[in-house]
Amino acid sequence: MAPYTFKNGITLKNRMVMSPTTTMSSFYDGHVTNDEIAFYGARSGGLGMIIGEVANVIASGKGFEGELSIANDGDIAGLSELAHAMKRNGTKAVLQIFHAGRKSNDQILRGNQPVSASAIKAAYPADSQTPRELTADEIDDIITAFGDATRRAIAAGFDGVELHGANTYLLQQFFSPNSNQRTDKWGGNRDDRMAFAKAVIASAHTAIDQYADRPFLLGYRISPEEIETPGIRLADTLAFVDMLGDSAVDYVHTSMGSAHRTSLNDKSDHEPIIAKLVAQLAGRKPLIGVGSVETPADADAVLDMGTDLVAMGREMIREPQWMEKVADGDEASIRYQLSPSEMAELKIPRAMQDYLNGAFYSVMHFTTDPEAAADYQNQAAPMEGFEKKM
Ligand SMILES: Cc1cc2nc3c(=O)[nH]c(=O)nc-3n(C[C@H](O)[C@H](O)[C@H](O)COP(=O)(O)O)c2cc1C
Repeated sequence: MAPYTFKNGITLKNRMVMSPTTTMSSFYDGHVTNDEIAFYGARSGGLGMIIGEVANVIASGKGFEGELSIANDGDIAGLSELAHAMKRNGTKAVLQIFHAGRKSNDQILRGNQPVSASAIKAAYPADSQTPRELTADEIDDIITAFGDATRRAIAAGFDGVELHGANTYLLQQFFSPNSNQRTDKWGGNRDDRMAFAKAVIASAHTAIDQYADRPFLLGYRISPEEIETPGIRLADTLAFVDMLGDSAVDYVHTSMGSAHRTSLNDKSDHEPIIAKLVAQLAGRKPLIGVGSVETPADADAVLDMGTDLVAMGREMIREPQWMEKVADGDEASIRYQLSPSEMAELKIPRAMQDYLNGAFYSVMHFTTDPEAAADYQNQAAPMEGFEKKM
């Protein structure tokens, strides 16, 4: 598979990327654990790039237990070890950074109420807590925190950061008319609701200019649609992607359970969303396609839609040696199912095992699952932040 060179000069040795799959295995304080280092160490070496699991940029942005933190300078030492493990044999290492916003709760936040653009509770899950509306000063602090986190990722030796603007977290909450009903400069019409994302991109970009003595990637992940009303529709996303096309980001990464998915809201629209994104970007930025890629033929099919790179999430959990096996012509030994008895061999941390056995059971393709045929197909994936549409 051909290498890929970004405009900033960073070259990936091939077009296969591991999309972020959180292990839920950081220490209580967000420090990196040896479990995480082992998980990524087992998966680096073959792929062009690994995008590491999401890390919070500020304490109020923590979204779940066992989450990685990049909020403090004290996190850098552990993150350096993580970056090192991910960069084995020339694989490039990007870290995903975020603020969870209203997708958290007062237990995870040690008694504090979650925060968001507006004091509006998410419809899913049903027991979501009502967030507190962020003040203008707090918004400024979060924007600064994204820049500080970028500085720390540079210091830790990563090759880039990816801004997590997908899966209904804070960046998406500011863009969505569902969660952002502010009347100040951070809310309003579609363009106005992009202000927070633009400010975060600028903050991260400034940190790169200031602190990186080497090419350093800035990515942006989006979720193309929401199913709530009001909510983000494809027309909104195309406008957002147009903004990204002219922005300082080096790549755009979509979040979908199936790379061939068509609109969740407009069933009469049969054009794959990825084709729309490729057309909208018109070569201005590379696009990473993702969603139910398992076989080399699946990966080629996504590249054939015009994406520059292809990411795999679940398949890289199941098969750490995917790329090596493809390169060796040993495709017959690629694991497409996950055996409960191989979890330790696959370096899947125990907290992640519980997670895979729980929320993700039906889509992980367990060898023990009698209904292994179930998949995301043309539905929203659980990670995308809303209930699966059946
Ligand atoms: C266990 C697990 C953890 C995930 N964690 C993240 C995450 O931290 N950030 C993110 O953007 N997506 C996350 N995702 C979504 C994946 O990156 C990917 O978009 C999704 O699984 C669809 O791709 P796939 O069909 O190749 O698995 C996660 C998915 C799984 C299964």
